[in-house]
Amino acid sequence: MPAEPAGKHADVVCVFGRRGSGKSTFVKSRIKAVPRVVVFDPMGEYPGRACNTLADVAAGLNAARGKPKLALAYRPPVNREAEALHHLCEMLIRHQAGYQNGRHRDGVLLVVEEADQGFPSAALPSHLTGMKAAILRGRHAGISILAVSQRPALVSATLRSNAAAWIVFALADHVDYQVVRQKGGPAALAAVQTLPSFSYVRLADGTVTAGTVGGKRAKSF
Ligand SMILES: Nc1ncnc2c1ncn2[C@@H]1O[C@H](COP(=O)(O)OP(=O)(O)OP(=O)(O)O)[C@@H](O)[C@H]1O
Ligand SMILES: [Mg+2]
Repeated sequence: MPAEPAGKHADVVCVFGRRGSGKSTFVKSRIKAVPRVVVFDPMGEYPGRACNTLADVAAGLNAARGKPKLALAYRPPVNREAEALHHLCEMLIRHQAGYQNGRHRDGVLLVVEEADQGFPSAALPSHLTGMKAAILRGRHAGISILAVSQRPALVSATLRSNAAAWIVFALADHVDYQVVRQKGGPAALAAVQTLPSFSYVRLADGTVTAGTVGGKRAKSF
């Protein structure tokens, strides 16, 4: 698989799939080799310096300044995920000002777990612009995004439409299948409908590619 989750191209990638389909396991294995990662981690399941407040995140970012390694896992307050993600994104954009100004080339990968909570399809209060800014302009700050959700239909259309690739595991809801069909056409829908456990299809550039977690790359449809 291409290196987009490694943050080399500062892309946005979405990972979708029903509960227990293997998304987080996939993401954890993909980010192992990524040197600078910040996770929006509502379930508190990622490795790295655990941060329970944004002040902890700020301290972690400051401690990592100028260093090659960064691994933070921020656990947002329950029911305030959208606000928390907004602030986290604003903080990351500020932290990456040196990249934007050409002073360094250290990118950062932002993993957003449960993205339907942090950046939902439902309208957000208008001041919560951080995640949108990270999606639309994060590339200039060296910010890559890997967003994870059970329900493609419930994440923001801004996220869905700006993603360079979708990694789709088996889904549970027909509305989500229709979203996949809108994105990738009948071939994508057919591929997702017949997925075995812990397998996914990758939708990018109008192509549908099959993959298995931990396995070899498989056929194209
Ligand atoms: N490739 C795999 N092979 C075997 N078991 C796997 C694989 N991927 C995940 N699992 C197992 O399946 C379970 C669910 O995996 P995981 O937590 O990654 O799912 P998820 O899609 O993130 O679920 P949720 O939406 O609830 O967060 C875990 O117990 C995990 O160990
Ligand atoms: Mg998960």
